Amino acid sequence: MDLKRATLDHQRTYGCGSRPFADGAQLAAWAIQAGACSAVEIGTSLGYSAACLANAGILVQTVDRDPVHIELAQRHLNERGLASRVNCMTGEAVEVLADLPAGEADLAFFDGMEVSVAEIEVLARTLRPGGWLIVSNMELGGEAAEVRELIGGWQLREDGEVLLAVKPSPAR
Ligand SMILES: C[S@@+](CC[C@H](N)C(=O)[O-])C[C@H]1O[C@@H](n2cnc3c(N)ncnc32)[C@H](O)[C@@H]1O
Repeated sequence: MDLKRATLDHQRTYGCGSRPFADGAQLAAWAIQAGACSAVEIGTSLGYSAACLANAGILVQTVDRDPVHIELAQRHLNERGLASRVNCMTGEAVEVLADLPAGEADLAFFDGMEVSVAEIEVLARTLRPGGWLIVSNMELGGEAAEVRELIGGWQLREDGEVLLAVKPSPAR
């Protein structure tokens, strides 16, 4: 998608954290496999991964702390007729996502940079039981080991730098 190219160009020009997700088609395929109708994302950047999910018919709530990225993402999504399917929010993920309802989202996608336990906790809270958590950029370090421990009881698999996990149903 041309939005991936635009994101790479923006990253080169400004040297910021606009690193597009490696393969938006793969992300959309996972979302379809999960049967997702709704998704929550950390790391909007210029809207590439959100657009891939929205193109697959998914309603997306996405957050980025960089107001320039959010403004560009909204413009790009609008130009592609996807604005009504993506809610772009500005701010720190841990604060912004705490206001979303718990246990409703079908898919939670982390695409910030170095992962932290606090970010995964706030994403996991939004997920319904059986919902999929997809964590990108695991190879960047951060609190990747602690995150693996946090979701150790979930059904896990890995695909390169991406961790996929299914939220368990509460024990009866
Ligand atoms: C790897 S890029 C996201 C790429 C995007 N998903 C795509 O496919 O083009 C990371 C973005 O996450 C944002 N970000 C990282 N950590 C964040 C946090 N804790 N809260 C809000 N935004 C965050 C950065 O500002 C940056 O724009």
